[in-house]
Amino acid sequence: MTGTAQGSAKAQAYQQEIADSVYEYFDKILDEREKEPRDDLLSHFLSAEVEGNRLSRNDILDICFLFLIAGLDTVTATLDCMFSFLAEHPEHRRQLVENPDVIPNAIEELLRWETPVMMVSRVAVQDTELGGCPVHKGDHAIVVIGSANVDEAEFPDADQVRFDREVNRHIAFGGGVHRCLGSHLARLELRVALRSGTSASPTTRSSPAKSSSTRRASAPSTSSRCASRRRGRGVGTTPPAVGHMPGPAALVPVTLFVPAGRVGVPA
Ligand code: HEM
Repeated sequence: MTGTAQGSAKAQAYQQEIADSVYEYFDKILDEREKEPRDDLLSHFLSAEVEGNRLSRNDILDICFLFLIAGLDTVTATLDCMFSFLAEHPEHRRQLVENPDVIPNAIEELLRWETPVMMVSRVAVQDTELGGCPVHKGDHAIVVIGSANVDEAEFPDADQVRFDREVNRHIAFGGGVHRCLGSHLARLELRVALRSGTSASPTTRSSPAKSSSTRRASAPSTSSRCASRRRGRGVGTTPPAVGHMPGPAALVPVTLFVPAGRVGVPA
């Protein structure tokens, strides 16, 4: 957007400027709601209590900011992943073109397969153990939900992209109390985009089509472009085998490749 490399001083300054203006925008609206409450979310935040305490203005502003940004990159990155996959897999794409009713199932399967938000992080509030891995209070844990989404114990043919999968309990939207608040909106947006994308350009494909639709369960996908991008971002670039790495000390990140259903355990 700035025409400069991500992370450069100019890009960071621009991001800061935009973030400040978003905070200012919400601050102004909150002032208005304080004077004249309405039946809306922002007015509710102003009177809400958590464990008997009102939210501070900064808390509310942070929540507003999160609401705004949480739905931006996630949906665009997911569409990026899905259209890349379909461009590289004409046989899957054909299924959607020939029968658009498959789209909702295809979205769930591609969410499982690509897991656009590959990892979530947590700080342990008490000593515990996960899959034999000791976790100490204060440890930072990075939970690789993309690994859980290809867990053979949960997904038969986990390394196959199957739009006819009948049971698909993927956790691409996380799990537990912090599960994605925008998943219903995201699903709607993805359905609209896939429906119009596949009907507007039914034969688009990447050239040359070079990847297969399988990936190893123990590592982020090597087959899709999106997976390569994720690796390029340097997050969990070289995952250890499925299982765990013991957390050597508090503040040292622990990467947990958890089986499906275990996410959300660390508080
Ligand atoms: C396909 C698109 C999306 C994906 C893959 C996605 C994924 C996720 C994941 C994995 C989490 C859990 C984070 C954690 O446990 O630490 C999360 C949280 C969240 N998402 Fe989404 N998300 C998507 C779209 C959206 C949209 C459209 C919105 C809002 C308009 C949204 C709002 C949120 C919020 C507010 C949270 C934080 C919930 C909390 O901490 O209690 N997300 N999302």
